[in-house]
Amino acid sequence: MSELPKIAGRQPAKVMLEEGKKYAYCTCGLSENQPFCNGAHKGTGFNPIVFTAEADGEVKLCQCKQTQSAPRCDGQHNCLES
Ligand code: FES
Repeated sequence: MSELPKIAGRQPAKVMLEEGKKYAYCTCGLSENQPFCNGAHKGTGFNPIVFTAEADGEVKLCQCKQTQSAPRCDGQHNCLES
């Protein structure tokens, strides 16, 4: 895939997840419901990452879409050029 994702934000989103609940994480950056997929990826080469929360609690999900540990933030936003 040569297409690059849109940088949806330069800080991770802090979201509360519920154990056992499924979430669809946006990888394209086009969703207006960041960090979650809203179907805006249609027609692109991107697809959401569907995952099940392993525990209740707050997590930081990547919005710059450069993380190597999707859907979680791995600090890559600190490496973005301005
Ligand atoms: S809207 Fe971005 S992956 Fe679905």
